[in-house]
Amino acid sequence: MLIRQPADLPPSEITPERIWRQRRHWVQAVAAVGLLAGTGARAQNPTAARLPGRPSPLSTMEKPTPYKLVTEYVNFYEFGTEKDDPPRLAPRTLRLRPWTLVVDGEVRKPRRFDLEDLLKLAAMEERVYRLRCVEAWSAVVPWVGYPLAELIKAVEPTGNARYLEFTTLADPQQMPNLRSSVLKWPYTEGLRMDEAQHPLTLLTFGMYGEVLPHQNGAPVRLVVPWKYGFKSAKSLVRIRFVEKQPVNSWQQSAPNEYGFFSNVNPTVDHPRWSQATERRLGEDGLLARRRPTLMFNGYGEQVASLYAGMDLRKFY
Ligand code: MTE
Repeated sequence: MLIRQPADLPPSEITPERIWRQRRHWVQAVAAVGLLAGTGARAQNPTAARLPGRPSPLSTMEKPTPYKLVTEYVNFYEFGTEKDDPPRLAPRTLRLRPWTLVVDGEVRKPRRFDLEDLLKLAAMEERVYRLRCVEAWSAVVPWVGYPLAELIKAVEPTGNARYLEFTTLADPQQMPNLRSSVLKWPYTEGLRMDEAQHPLTLLTFGMYGEVLPHQNGAPVRLVVPWKYGFKSAKSLVRIRFVEKQPVNSWQQSAPNEYGFFSNVNPTVDHPRWSQATERRLGEDGLLARRRPTLMFNGYGEQVASLYAGMDLRKFY
């Protein structure tokens, strides 16, 4: 591709910064309206509260997957292992208020946030991200939240904080599948500090302009778009800053299949299936093409430097 240098351009073709900034905002605003119109976000669920966010330049321009698919084809093992168990059961039994998120461990200011405090901690953004599940399907979802880095700043980690351990709700009264031993409960996940502080890592409260549906991890979840979907822990109740690398529920249940990092990587197969391609939700049928899976789920430009020098075949 030929890229013209500023020196090659006559002054009449150079747009003043104030004007291009205005134009960029306008383009983003129009894109956001188009997005809302395209997904019908205004009334996805007439009973859900609206949760708008300002459009983010970190959004993908791909078309969001229909709301119905993202909310009806769901992994939330605490409610069952079939995709339609969580949408059927979670809205009936999962109680969202009162909700507390405990943030503790290696921090100077440990805190118990109630949901209202958490919602007010930083400005909401809408981030349209690709989500790639380890089961080789993917979706494009307009999430609403703010960078986890904002919460990290608020609790002031100590010098010993090298990892974060995320714990999600495990209440057998609310979650019928805790009886089963399909995973080790509570569901836990982990991130390295630099991954958790990365601007793409989103503490998420909503999707498609509304608060999260119960089955998608209400009232607060993580979204880490360059990692397999299971790193995006749902219905968070605790974030602990620790010195040692935590072990997540999937590693505990199947250590030969799941590692700590779980970066999307088409060159490292799951022991039971290939990760080279994926099926986008909604693109079913005989003629549907499978898409090639992208390294770091397409977010390599932003995150590859976090793993410079690491053998990603070994640290999968
Ligand atoms: N969080 C909890 N607490 N329990 C789960 O079973 N499943 C994970 C992740 N977070 C899961 C979870 C998996 S496997 C995926 S692919 C994503 O949630 C799916 O998120 P979505 O169903 O909202 O798309």
